[in-house]
Amino acid sequence: MGLLASSSSSSSSLVAVTVVLGLLFNAAVLCHGGISSSYRRVATELNIDMPVDSDTFYVPPGENTPQQVHITQGDHVGTAVIVSWITPKAPGFSVVRYWSENSTKIRWARGTIETYRYFNYTSGYIHHANISNLEFNSKYYYKVGAGKYARIFWFVTPPAPGPDVPYTFGLIGDLGQTYDSSITITHYQNDPLNGQAVLFLGDLSYADDYPFHDNVRWDTWGRLVERSAAYQPWIWTVGNHEIDWAPQLGEPVPFVPFSHRYHTPYEAAGSTAPFWYSIKRGPAHVIIMAAYSAFGKYSPQYSWFNQEIQKVNRSETPWLIVIMHPPTYNSYQSHYMEGEPMRAVYENTFVKYKVDIVFAGHVHAYERSIRVSNIKYNITNGLCNPVKDLNAPVYLTVGDGGNLEGLSTVMTEPQPNYSAFREPSFGHGMLEIKNRTHAYFAWHRNDDGYAVVADSVWLTNRFWYPTDDSN
Ligand SMILES: *[C@@H]1O[C@H](CO)[C@@H](O)[C@H](O)[C@H]1NC(C)=O
Ligand SMILES: *[C@@H]1O[C@H](CO)[C@@H](O)[C@H](O)[C@H]1NC(C)=O
Ligand SMILES: *[C@@H]1O[C@H](CO)[C@@H](O)[C@H](O)[C@H]1NC(C)=O
Ligand SMILES: *[C@@H]1O[C@H](CO)[C@@H](O)[C@H](O)[C@H]1NC(C)=O
Ligand SMILES: *[C@@H]1O[C@H](CO)[C@@H](O)[C@H](O)[C@H]1NC(C)=O
Ligand SMILES: *[C@@H]1O[C@H](CO)[C@@H](O)[C@H](O)[C@H]1NC(C)=O
Ligand SMILES: *[C@@H]1O[C@H](CO)[C@@H](O)[C@H](O)[C@H]1NC(C)=O
Ligand SMILES: [Fe+2]
Ligand SMILES: [Fe+2]
Repeated sequence: MGLLASSSSSSSSLVAVTVVLGLLFNAAVLCHGGISSSYRRVATELNIDMPVDSDTFYVPPGENTPQQVHITQGDHVGTAVIVSWITPKAPGFSVVRYWSENSTKIRWARGTIETYRYFNYTSGYIHHANISNLEFNSKYYYKVGAGKYARIFWFVTPPAPGPDVPYTFGLIGDLGQTYDSSITITHYQNDPLNGQAVLFLGDLSYADDYPFHDNVRWDTWGRLVERSAAYQPWIWTVGNHEIDWAPQLGEPVPFVPFSHRYHTPYEAAGSTAPFWYSIKRGPAHVIIMAAYSAFGKYSPQYSWFNQEIQKVNRSETPWLIVIMHPPTYNSYQSHYMEGEPMRAVYENTFVKYKVDIVFAGHVHAYERSIRVSNIKYNITNGLCNPVKDLNAPVYLTVGDGGNLEGLSTVMTEPQPNYSAFREPSFGHGMLEIKNRTHAYFAWHRNDDGYAVVADSVWLTNRFWYPTDDSN
């Protein structure tokens, strides 16, 4: 009897809770957010990495031929390029020869060579050469290696920083090395919007998902991305899969494989560590932040960031873009609220300096926010709802490159009102900056043809067109 009573009283309180929840739910539905795409991809592939000997991981002929060739910006404005490659067996010839499209004058730059050990893995010889004093807006060829196994690539330098020079960035995050990853690269390369440089949003190889962080998977990843990264700069952001902190394997120092393989132009940006830095490229000033290095008040990153954002000259580079790995506004269950620590420290500054866009990855899906901020909250005033804010950035999550962990399909419901569009499909983004006032952002899902846009938005510049509230 006692049992029955207690059970009936608990079921009546359950009813009450359900009624209250139902009311809350209805209220929430009334102020719900934007679109939760109903698109469901037909899963044709398992989320598995391609085999180590897959042809997609291009190994050139010759046992010591340069492989895993990739480039990134080498200075603050785009007249230098860091060329990197690996010779597997011996140091070989650490020189890049390069020449501009219509010139017969060949210049050269010497590289530095480094190797590293990780648990029982020993790397090949990793070369990094900084080629500088390039002309803006010019095509250059470059050659690595010597003799019959030398390899030739090319790239185009960006236009000089300026407010109305058009420029198109590709956005790829959380790429990994599955069949889907390869499709993402192919779709990016064939996208008629023609990306000129990739802003990579963190989480490169996912080698750390293997036993002993099998660093062979860092090599296969380098081979996978060469077909794009050797021809246009990929701008690197550190993700959690770059940490490789494993004291149980005798690897107590974070970021070892990443730091040896991927260099960044941090010194030219006045930064003291390779993980946070900035570049100017055409009409954009891009600030790359490191979510897995100290970023709180009094940290080196914090003081660097606060100086850097004050230096941005919107008359020269109107588009102020911030990249970090974890998203600030995320409505998937995956990594929900992980962006809060950085938001608490930096969101005020983003709004004060009118950052146009914040790109992130980490959540393996796509999401676009409205212009939103949550800076009024001061613990006691109860103002804890994110509000539409014309001075705030649009937050874009493009963590859908296609890695072995698969998609983040579970969304929080109802869709919060800061979320304008969300869909868990693999794909890539494109940011086409047209002039100082307008940029077009498009997201492409891999399941569609190269030219099909699955979500898009016109973004207006917060400095030059702050009154436009269309997003
Ligand atoms: C590293 O150690 C693991 C575990 O003992 C082993 O399976 C692997 O073959 C080793 N790799 C090398 C390169 O020695
Ligand atoms: C090289 O020549 C081509 C064809 O004449 C021209 O379009 C291009 O602008 C030239 N490039 C440079 C860097 O002068
Ligand atoms: C490359 O060289 C340029 C010009 O000297 C310099 O500004 C830049 O900091 C160098 N970059 C790196 C990564 O060494
Ligand atoms: C900002 O850039 C403009 C255009 O390049 C230039 O005229 C101006 O001097 C710059 N301002 C500062 C403070 O450097
Ligand atoms: C927080 O906001 C409330 C309401 O605006 C204000 O009364 C209070 O003084 C604020 N607290 C602090 C510590 O600033
Ligand atoms: C979301 O809804 C809450 C509660 O109604 C409201 O306070 C807030 O301003 C809304 N935020 C946005 C971004 O519309
Ligand atoms: C900037 O680009 C947008 C979109 O292409 C166009 O509508 C607008 O007229 C352009 N503004 C100027 C000043 O050219
Ligand atoms: Fe991540
Ligand atoms: Fe990831």
